[in-house]
Amino acid sequence: MIDNIQKISDQAVAGISAATDERSLEDARVAFLGKKGTLAGASAGIKDVPNEDKPAFGAALNQARTAINAALDAKTLELQNLADQKSVAGIDLTLPARELAAGGLHPLTIVKDRAIQILRRMGFALADGPEIETEYHCFDALNTPDDHPARNEKDTFYFDGGKLLRTHTSSVQIRTMENSTPPVRIIAPGSAYRRDDVDATHLPVFNQLEGLYVDTDVKLGDLKGTLEYFLQAMFGDNTEVRFRPHFFPFTEPSFEIDVKLTIAGQEPKWIEVAGCGMVDPAVFSSIATQRGDDAFDPENVTGYAFGMGLDRLAMIQYGIKDIRALIENDTRFLSQFA
Ligand code: PHE
Repeated sequence: MIDNIQKISDQAVAGISAATDERSLEDARVAFLGKKGTLAGASAGIKDVPNEDKPAFGAALNQARTAINAALDAKTLELQNLADQKSVAGIDLTLPARELAAGGLHPLTIVKDRAIQILRRMGFALADGPEIETEYHCFDALNTPDDHPARNEKDTFYFDGGKLLRTHTSSVQIRTMENSTPPVRIIAPGSAYRRDDVDATHLPVFNQLEGLYVDTDVKLGDLKGTLEYFLQAMFGDNTEVRFRPHFFPFTEPSFEIDVKLTIAGQEPKWIEVAGCGMVDPAVFSSIATQRGDDAFDPENVTGYAFGMGLDRLAMIQYGIKDIRALIENDTRFLSQFA
């Protein structure tokens, strides 16, 4: 009897070690250790064993069970190791990982944030307005008559129902004056839209930063000093700034501002960066009429306004020659600023 158990144990251990996968291993386990397995069959024979031999018989059974379980555990581990090895076959685990490029701020964002930071230090608060505007806020309230070329259908994106994509951030001047009383000192960065053909210096979507200061005694010298200070804070103390007389319907007098750009090995160039001027009294009158009070009565207040091209500022700051680089999302270009 005991010999028989030893034989079963040897058979089981051999069968288990011959298993080649989980499936055949499980079959072996059931065959030897299962309820109807060989070992269970043998142990039922205990009733025929003489009493004095029962302890030895029981011990042999236990030994067999232990041996079979040990064989099962060993084989399970072996099969698992084999599977692990197979799953990483051909992979060099010592190879360094591919580096993930870290993101960074877009050059336009960097320049915009810096401009805002400088102007906020100078007392300007942030203001905002919609990009889908009424003709009133974009043109009429800014003293821009119906026959002005800026209102040409070919120059602007119109929606049905008279709305349009704002052609400049100057509409925020109007929205601000509708909702506050002087003194007003705001800046409004944001997108503007024009039906321009795309080239190295034009995009149909571009970015501006509007400024407006209205108080009882604002003078042209304040405008000039503020913008000179700002541009030198942006581009360096020695930056040369030039004001050229110009025309805008909503400012009088009006100017365009140029910054002298010096790139090593090149002739210095004047680059236009902004339009500006003293708020035209006609704009104040129109606001006064609209509001029905005298908060912005041109008899009481004066002001200046400016609108800078943020894309231009970025191009100057970083020496970017083609404005399209700002919207192409080419990481080879963008990663230089991260
Ligand atoms: N809105 C003008 C433009 O887009 C710029 C400007 C703003 C001029 C404010 C004067 C005052 O060209």
